[in-house]
Amino acid sequence: MPKVKLHKDGEVIEKEVDKNANLVVMAGINKFPEIKYGCGMGRCTKCTCRVLGGAENLQAPNWKEEKMLGDKLEEGYRLTCQLSIQEDIEITQDNIKIRPPRRKSASLTK
Ligand code: FES
Repeated sequence: MPKVKLHKDGEVIEKEVDKNANLVVMAGINKFPEIKYGCGMGRCTKCTCRVLGGAENLQAPNWKEEKMLGDKLEEGYRLTCQLSIQEDIEITQDNIKIRPPRRKSASLTK
């Protein structure tokens, strides 16, 4: 089973998770309550993490991550809710201030 190391507030929380686990789903059912999240659908960016190790074990970013994180993807940021854990990974959600891009209002798009 893959191991997830979460660096949070100066501590490292380590848990084994099922292969293909979604950490936000686990947080939602209180199996990984230390994970911060919001919408669970790739829209709010509240779950953004920075990958400290094991990035090579993650799938390529999907369109939601590209839309929400843009250039930050190259700095190792990912949307935790969009990840399916396959292998060991090390992440942090500390000190991340990423906001979703502003949506264009329909009246402004003419
Ligand atoms: S929980 Fe909202 S973008 Fe991941």
